[in-house]
Amino acid sequence: MTSSQYPNVRPRRLRRTPALRRLVAETRLHPAELVLPIFVKEGLSEPAPIASMPGLVQHTLASLRKAAHEAVAAGVGGLMLYAVPEERDAIGSAGVDPDGILQRAIREVADEVGDSTVIMSDLCLDEFTDHGHCGVLRADGAVDNDATLEIYGEMALAQAQAGAHLLGLSGMMDGQVGFVRRALDAAGYQDTGILAYAAKYSSVFYGPFRDAVDSQLKGDRKTYQQDPANGIEALLEVRLDLAEGADLVMVKPAMSYLDIVRQIADVAQVPVAAYQVSGEYAMVEAAAANGWIDRERAILETLTSIKRAGASVILSYWALDAIRLLG
Ligand code: PBG
Repeated sequence: MTSSQYPNVRPRRLRRTPALRRLVAETRLHPAELVLPIFVKEGLSEPAPIASMPGLVQHTLASLRKAAHEAVAAGVGGLMLYAVPEERDAIGSAGVDPDGILQRAIREVADEVGDSTVIMSDLCLDEFTDHGHCGVLRADGAVDNDATLEIYGEMALAQAQAGAHLLGLSGMMDGQVGFVRRALDAAGYQDTGILAYAAKYSSVFYGPFRDAVDSQLKGDRKTYQQDPANGIEALLEVRLDLAEGADLVMVKPAMSYLDIVRQIADVAQVPVAAYQVSGEYAMVEAAAANGWIDRERAILETLTSIKRAGASVILSYWALDAIRLLG
């Protein structure tokens, strides 16, 4: 019985069985594109749980080494290292010290896994300053862009020397990619790459991360991170970072900024990364713990959406969970 009042085009046909849906899926996640961010804290004797990021810990150097090994065995695409020093000061000295905790962590991981995954390190001052800002402060309390660049240049050399493959420039200082690129090249580190946090928004979703790094920040980062209201300046930031020599560009956070991921993926001729940040993790974990959301489906749906938007590399605290679910 046919009649023109019924549809002749029926999209539901291709949704009827799991096999049909699998055949026509446009987006597939793969372990190799997932990067696991991981925290290490100086002076710990045991791994310490992070209250606002259930299931995650601040590692000791020894437990970091083991976790890196396991992540690589699971097939993760990369590791992004963050370190919490014992001593902080106004200029973030521990961040440039060749024996600082981040440099030691990079060395341990490099020794453990070599080139079998991509070792990335956070290049920013906020973990190392006593005021918690991503740069050094002027007398009036404002973040001093160009004085900060000098320190980023030194941090870059310390991290490159320790063995990082990619430096994650997350401080949002103007000119940071070019400055670090020149510092690396001048010191013979032409092969150390730069993952530029090109479009990094001043986001409430970094809240749990600040617990993870014991942040001392009192104010906010609105004078250097982007306003969530703006899209055009994300394109400017990407254009500048690429001109300055960025090897990959990243959007952060991910889920509330998928329009930005898409716009950048449409124009950038380098891989686009997206960072599913601590607050995105915590929201789902909290809802799942209450039985309000299916955790595993949420992990796969959020990651698939980020990839569909145009990210080819995704930083996620669920990297290993996702790999297990894909297995
Ligand atoms: C800066 C940095 C931050 C994050 C990654 N790198 C904190 C910030 O900008 O306040 C946040 C990551 C997350 O929330 O998961 N070193």
